[in-house]
Amino acid sequence: MKILVTGTAGFIGFHLAKRLVLDGYDLVGLDSINDYYAVSLKFERLAESGIAQNEIEYGKLLQSKIHNKYRFVKLNLEDRENLEKLFEAEKFDFVVNLAAQAGVRYSIENPHAYVQSNLAGFVNVLECCRHNGVKHLVYASSSSVYGNAAKIPFSETDRVDFPVSLYAATKKANELMAHTYSHLYKLPTTGLRFFTVYGEWGRPDMSPILFADAITNSEPIKVFNHGDMSRDFTYIDDIVEGIVRLLTNSCHCELDRQAPEQTGDSDLRQNDGCSPYYRLFNIGNSQPVQLMDFIRTMEDALGKKAILKMYPMQAGDVKTTYADTTELEKVTHYKPSTSLKVGLEKFAKWYKNSTHYTEK
Ligand SMILES: NC(=O)c1ccc[n+]([C@@H]2O[C@H](COP(=O)([O-])OP(=O)(O)OC[C@H]3O[C@@H](n4cnc5c(N)ncnc54)[C@H](O)[C@@H]3O)[C@@H](O)[C@H]2O)c1
Repeated sequence: MKILVTGTAGFIGFHLAKRLVLDGYDLVGLDSINDYYAVSLKFERLAESGIAQNEIEYGKLLQSKIHNKYRFVKLNLEDRENLEKLFEAEKFDFVVNLAAQAGVRYSIENPHAYVQSNLAGFVNVLECCRHNGVKHLVYASSSSVYGNAAKIPFSETDRVDFPVSLYAATKKANELMAHTYSHLYKLPTTGLRFFTVYGEWGRPDMSPILFADAITNSEPIKVFNHGDMSRDFTYIDDIVEGIVRLLTNSCHCELDRQAPEQTGDSDLRQNDGCSPYYRLFNIGNSQPVQLMDFIRTMEDALGKKAILKMYPMQAGDVKTTYADTTELEKVTHYKPSTSLKVGLEKFAKWYKNSTHYTEK
């Protein structure tokens, strides 16, 4: 099986690529290596996968020095011409699209980056999948599509029409665009609503590394909404396990492409007009953690106390996230289960040995 994973210089894509090559897949990783956060971290992740920074050239497929079935290409999803050439040459069986402009707060200041990567880029991925016989497209959505919904836990059948950031709006748009391609072209698609992912090689714009940096350097942690927030923190290995199980358990991919009306019985498919080729899942820990408890657990993992500075709620942020994973369990017989304590201990071990761990 040949797979394209986009966003492999990024946090989740890096971990997924590592897992897929171990599982024996023939993998091409793609990333624009944008500078939304420290590019050095992206090159470090690539180096860990056997891709040398000094050999990377835009548009050129590079062979990993560690894994014989892993190749990497630096490419923008918006670069339609070169993306089409890649798909035509490689004939991928599966595609996992994780490349996107991430981050809720950044979308307030930089809306156009989201339109380019998440909308223009995503339609290119859909078109390439459609025209090259891709058997299954899995793509990253986000828990942010639930906005400030009052009903918890969040379920895939809840209404998600009220995003509170442009980032969330583009993720919801991805789900709508995917549905259109599932409906029109019978392209099997699976959207994944990830809930606050953390772990080794994580994103420096997210709370685990921001907080770890502040604690290490005895600087104040910015505690938004005066600590009155909770997040369904999900450990990276649980996310990867969920992606791999859904990628391979693609029951909707085996549907008879000529007779879709005969198929499917999940809750989503019973909804009026939902294509049987379209699936959507929450992947979250289903155990929201209060921000102050998160900070205490991080202090324990790092062995040092935090200095706290209280701030009001930030524009675009939501107060709570909480995943209902019934659908995921039904289809994969799996649910994320790593406790925050265990996950943060693993994170802290990596962090203390990483280039991030530099006390000023
Ligand atoms: N980390 C989380 O908690 C979380 C939560 C919900 C959803 N997600 C989604 O999961 C996916 C992966 O997130 P992540 O945390 O690994 O983010 P990340 O920023 O670490 O990785 C994304 C990668 O995509 C690349 N990229 C961005 N725009 C691109 C483009 N136009 N063409 C090619 N490459 C491009 C970036 O260079 C980056 O390396 C994203 O779609 C994100 O929106 C993440």
